[in-house]
Amino acid sequence: MNSVSSASKIAIIGGTGLTQLADFKITQQKVLKTPYGAPSAPFTIGEFAQQELIFLARHGNPHVLPPHKINYQANIWGLKQLGVTAIIAVAAVGGITAEMVPAQLAIPDQLIDYTHDRRHTFFESEEYPVTHIDFTFPYHPELRQQLIAAAALAEVQINRVGTYGCTQGPRLETIAEIKRMEQDGCDLVGMTGMPEAALAKELGIHYASLSVIANWAAGKAEGEITMIEIEQNLHLGMAKAMQLLRAFLMPH
Ligand code: HPA
Repeated sequence: MNSVSSASKIAIIGGTGLTQLADFKITQQKVLKTPYGAPSAPFTIGEFAQQELIFLARHGNPHVLPPHKINYQANIWGLKQLGVTAIIAVAAVGGITAEMVPAQLAIPDQLIDYTHDRRHTFFESEEYPVTHIDFTFPYHPELRQQLIAAAALAEVQINRVGTYGCTQGPRLETIAEIKRMEQDGCDLVGMTGMPEAALAKELGIHYASLSVIANWAAGKAEGEITMIEIEQNLHLGMAKAMQLLRAFLMPH
């Protein structure tokens, strides 16, 4: 039996620290033109953990696009065009609440959107008339449960719930902003979760976030946040994320 339904076609969107997948047997690179412009990178199609997989580097390969310049519409539309039914969105985040320790993983179940001026919907044209999608559960509950089961199988410790707050970036936050986000109920802070999650939902693609905690959010540790700290934690966290993804995809 497969941990993921054989009917599903899975894509991984890789964030900072995951521009390429190790051990990914690439069979095809697809450059797609979309009505929304160019996606972040070619869609890489191949086999990973004995499963067909599509990979997309969210920030481009090499990593050149800041969060607010990512063409989320083109990325999600392209994945839909390729027949993708489920997206695992790997993303670097900061940890706000005490259990969100750097170098660990989290599978958020809720989100709050603090972004602005991003093209955030497909439903504004003749092709896609105005539709108000339900967004009660921004992350697909079943896909989340499958990731949680894979973590248990791979013996990778994870935070099973959490609220992801999406900021505009590219700068990190102030202490006051993080305090406000904590009061709002955010456990994690990242810059790319929205509008990605909403656009996937608009096109009926199941979507879950595998968040890799790169640092304590502003004010949650002594001093300033350094790139060295982020890189070291991401390195450790991404290794765990890869273990989890292998267990998620591997037939067993
Ligand atoms: N804030 C926002 N996005 C992030 C952070 C952070 O502290 N760390 C990694 N991505």
